[in-house]
Amino acid sequence: MKTVIVAEHAPFVGTLAQEAFSQSQGADTIKIVAMPSSLEEVPALMQATKADVVILALDLEGDPIAMAKFLAHSYPRALVFAIAAPDTHPDQLRFARSQGFRDILVRPLSLAAIHHAIEKAEIEDRQPKAAPHTTYGTYTAPTAPSTIKSRVIAVYSPKGGVGKTAIATNLALAYAHNPTVKLSVCLVDLDLSWGDVATVLGLPASIPTILDWIPVVDRFEGPIPPEKVQELVVHTAFNVDVVAAPFSPGDHLRFQEKGQEDQRIRWILESLKRDYDVLIIDLEQQLRDSTIVTIEMAHRTLVVSTPDIQSLKAIYRTVSKLREAHVDVSRMRLVLNRMGRGSDLPFADAAAMAEQMALPVMAQLPEDPQMQLSINMGEPIVHRMQKGPFVTALRQLAHAEIPVFGRDKRRGTPVAVTPPVPPSKEDSKPFLRRLFGNR
Ligand SMILES: Nc1ncnc2c1ncn2[C@@H]1O[C@H](COP(=O)(O)OP(=O)(O)O)[C@@H](O)[C@H]1O
Ligand SMILES: [Mg+2]
Repeated sequence: MKTVIVAEHAPFVGTLAQEAFSQSQGADTIKIVAMPSSLEEVPALMQATKADVVILALDLEGDPIAMAKFLAHSYPRALVFAIAAPDTHPDQLRFARSQGFRDILVRPLSLAAIHHAIEKAEIEDRQPKAAPHTTYGTYTAPTAPSTIKSRVIAVYSPKGGVGKTAIATNLALAYAHNPTVKLSVCLVDLDLSWGDVATVLGLPASIPTILDWIPVVDRFEGPIPPEKVQELVVHTAFNVDVVAAPFSPGDHLRFQEKGQEDQRIRWILESLKRDYDVLIIDLEQQLRDSTIVTIEMAHRTLVVSTPDIQSLKAIYRTVSKLREAHVDVSRMRLVLNRMGRGSDLPFADAAAMAEQMALPVMAQLPEDPQMQLSINMGEPIVHRMQKGPFVTALRQLAHAEIPVFGRDKRRGTPVAVTPPVPPSKEDSKPFLRRLFGNR
């Protein structure tokens, strides 16, 4: 049983107070001993109760960060968390994390969320300190060498805002932190116009981007040597290397200047494929040459849809177009994201549409209210949380593709085995010429 002090504005603690006095989930592991609505009261309450956990709202009057530091100094065994509104500026959240708050919880607070944060902190404390990014959750860092090589997984959707980046980023992190084998993972942002992988990972704008690869692949006229690859990728604290998209919209046109976009993208991907065990590629919605090259090179393309008619119809039209242009779509699978929001198409209807377009459903990922906060914090949800609806389903999807998450306990979920390496199509023509010109 953990004793907890919650310093939060009075209007936000209504449900928590109700939960604390009822028999709801978590009430047997957590005891709220005080709910002050000002920071000033915290030191006296802490002295009286010696609570195990203190939770401070970041927007209470006064200086919550100074209070967190005081508590860390005077009560080093206490866990100090912050509460923030869902739209708190990411810089403020990152700053709070760096200044002694163990974790940030999102308003409105619940016993289950407090319970989860305590559990996560305790697990982290049990892990060796040396390499925090390789140890998280209940997993121990893998030691077995990788037997998986050059696996390419692309994430695509003809519609924006369906969760491509969320899925690609979290998938990359899931593989990098799997419990079984040590995998080198590279995440490539091929959303050349509006890519935001760097933002989602909290990376600064000063990092190299994919534009820096152009002169190098042009010089080598093919895949570039491994030492050049290591100069051009961005090494992140998440144990995932990143190739970021251009930061300014329109800059992607440089891929078409004095050379062919598809050729350059192929050389970049061939270089990375040679050097990494797993390559995750976040594609843009346009069917441009870089998209087609990637789909042809990938062992798997996850086509993401939200469960609504516009998104599914856009996929229907796109898949038909790809077939018309003789692009091999047999390795594509549908992933339904943001399931369970209430007003959406039921799964059976979405599955019927998928069947009509001969696109097998590979996974359903649920709506998760923690997702947006993770994006704002620049820390993907699989890194922030050990459990939760999205995290659990995403790991199942990752495992279905590359089985590195232990025994597969699921029954009846549609899963397809990865097909063999596709033949490389060195001589394939750019997409528009394939569609309209002679082949
Ligand atoms: N499973 C989910 N639950 C809740 N929100 C989600 C989920 N997946 C994506 N989102 C939200 O949808 C928005 C768009 O996601 P994003 O990955 O950027 O889409 P895309 O890359 O397809 O444009 C983000 O704000 C993200 O928070
Ligand atoms: Mg995106």
